[in-house]
Amino acid sequence: MRVRKATGEEMLRLWGYADAGSAPPTVKFFHANLSSGNSLFWTIEREDGELIGELYAFLDLGDTDFADGKDTAYLCAFRVKEGYRGQGLGSELLEHALSELREMGFRSATIGVGKDEPRNLRLYRRFGFLSMVKECHYDPCGMDTDMQPVYEEDAWWLLSKDL
Ligand SMILES: CC(C)(COP(=O)(O)OP(=O)(O)OC[C@H]1O[C@@H](n2cnc3c(N)ncnc32)[C@H](O)[C@@H]1OP(=O)(O)O)[C@@H](O)C(=O)NCCC(=O)NCCS
Repeated sequence: MRVRKATGEEMLRLWGYADAGSAPPTVKFFHANLSSGNSLFWTIEREDGELIGELYAFLDLGDTDFADGKDTAYLCAFRVKEGYRGQGLGSELLEHALSELREMGFRSATIGVGKDEPRNLRLYRRFGFLSMVKECHYDPCGMDTDMQPVYEEDAWWLLSKDL
């Protein structure tokens, strides 16, 4: 297993799309941002080439509480494939992303967590995401067909940590 950077094309394949043109708005948004360099994608690759983990950082977003292009970056779509969870792989991925953002000069990272996700909250707290930035009903990377963030009925927390 190794953690490495991956591309927008690999994101499309991982999410089951042949190309961005026919994909839903959120997928298009991720792909466009990876292509422009406004987002980064780290994965965990198995020896046989299968990608079993993913984590993205958006560097600059309309809502600067999430990411402001110079000091703060937003981490999202953090996943380890079922069957591989609870073995430290997600922590390795997160550590990798945080240290790379730090090297790039970012001073803080944000991440979202659902109010009904105590295990994720525990993981993020362990990593030092101790400040609650705000309660959110929108994820700036979850888009509707007009490329506007989708309203989410259930509010969630945006957390942050210093890098
Ligand atoms: C969150 C996630 C990426 C963490 O990756 P991981 O490889 O399981 O994490 P690690 O093994 O490094 O760390 C384990 C910790 O992760 C947290 N965790 C959250 N969901 C978990 C799960 N389903 N299984 C195991 N650990 C989980 C716990 O805090 C756990 O620590 P604990 O055993 O003390 O409770 C992974 O569990 C996952 O993909 N979950 C489903 C998708 C999700 O909720 N993503 C985050 C929001 S986008």
